[in-house]
Amino acid sequence: MRFSRRLDPLPEYLTARLNRLVAERRAAGRDVIALGVGDPDVPPTAAARAALAALVQREDVARYPTNAGLPMLREAVARFYAVRFGVAIDPDREVMPLLGAKEGLAHLAMAQLDPGDVSLIADPGYPVYAGGPILAGATPVAMPLRPELAFQPDLDAVPARDRDRANLLVLGYPNNPTGAVMADDLFERLVRFSHDHDVPVCHDNAYSEITFDGHVAPSYLATPGARENGIEILSLSKAFSVPGWRIAFAVGNAAIIANLAKLKTNVDSGMFLAMQHVAIELLDSDPAERRALSAMYQGRRDVVCDLLEHAGVTVKRPGGTLYLWLAVPTAETSLGFSERILEECDVVLSPGSAYGAAGEGYVRLSLTESEDRLREAIGRLTAAL
Ligand SMILES: Cc1ncc(COP(=O)(O)O)c(C=O)c1O
Repeated sequence: MRFSRRLDPLPEYLTARLNRLVAERRAAGRDVIALGVGDPDVPPTAAARAALAALVQREDVARYPTNAGLPMLREAVARFYAVRFGVAIDPDREVMPLLGAKEGLAHLAMAQLDPGDVSLIADPGYPVYAGGPILAGATPVAMPLRPELAFQPDLDAVPARDRDRANLLVLGYPNNPTGAVMADDLFERLVRFSHDHDVPVCHDNAYSEITFDGHVAPSYLATPGARENGIEILSLSKAFSVPGWRIAFAVGNAAIIANLAKLKTNVDSGMFLAMQHVAIELLDSDPAERRALSAMYQGRRDVVCDLLEHAGVTVKRPGGTLYLWLAVPTAETSLGFSERILEECDVVLSPGSAYGAAGEGYVRLSLTESEDRLREAIGRLTAAL
C-alpha cells in the first residue's frame, strides 16, 4: 500500500504520543500524573451540561447543519465580541463557526497557502501552526519567541526572502506554550508588518479567558487596521472547559472568512445544531464564571510555582494559559529530561522541542490536574532533580 508523501514531514502528533505513553504505563499498573497535554480537567458548568442534554432530545437538531451556522449563533459571537472585547463584528460576513480552533488553523493554512509559500509561525508554538502549512505543501518559517523579548516575536528579524513569500502569519497571546501575555505594542507592530509586507495575520486567541493577576487579554481585532487583512480564532474549549465539544470561531476579515468557508463546505458539514445552541448559551453566560475558572487556575499556578521555588527551581509565573514553561534545570535536552522524569517519577511533561526548535531547553507543565495531584507531581519531580 502507498500513502501520500504529503504526510512524510509530519512528526507523530505530540498529544497522540503522550497519550500513548500514559496508556502504556497505566496499563502496567503505574500511577501516572499526566501534565503533558492541555486538556481541562474541570467539567463544563452544570447549566451547560443540562442545556446540552435537553437539546439532544429535540427532534430538529439531528439534521445537517450549515457551515455558516445559525444566524443567531453568529449574532451571539458578535455580541460576545462587543461586550467582551469592545469590537463590532458583522455577524453575516465576519464570523464562521469552526469544529475547534485546531480544525480552523489547519484548514486556514490550506485555504491560504500554495506550494512555495511561507507561513510565519511562532516558535515555540501550537503544533498545528507548522502542521497546517506542511499539509498545504507550503513552508512554515519560525519566528523565535525568546525570553529576553518576553516571548514576543522580533518582526524586524524576519528575513526578507521569507517575508516576501509569506501569505500567512500565525501566533497567539496569551501564549501556548510559554504562558506569556501580549506586550503592549505587539498588535500595533503586527498590523504595521502585515500591511507593509502584505501578509495576512491569524491571531489565535484560544486562551483569551484564562488570564491571571488582573490581566485582561485583548482581541487582535480591536487594533486599528487589523481587520483589513487579519482574522482571530476564538475557541470555547479552555474558556468554558468544553474541549471535547469542539466549538470555535474564525472572526474578522470577510474575504479570508469567505475563502475558508469555500474550503470548509467541501470538507465538513458544520457544527452539530445542539452544540450551536449550547454555544449561544455559553457566549451569553455570566462572565463571573469565566473569572472563577481563571482564579482556580491561578491558584494552581501559585501552588506549583511556590513549591518549585521552595525547591530552588527558577520559574517565571505565566500571565495566562494553563501552562508553566520551565527551563530545564539540568544539562539534559528537553526530550531527555522529560523522558527521565517520566521514567523515574511517572510524571508526564511535554518536551519544549516538540513546539519548535526555540522550545529546546524547556518543558511545559499543564495545570490540568487537581491541586493535590499537582502537589504530588511536584514532590516527585523535585525529589528527582
Ligand atoms: C494555542 C492553541 N490554539 C488552538 C488550540 C486548539 O483548540 P480547540 O480545542 O478549539 O481545537 C489549542 C489547544 O490546546 C491551543 O493551545
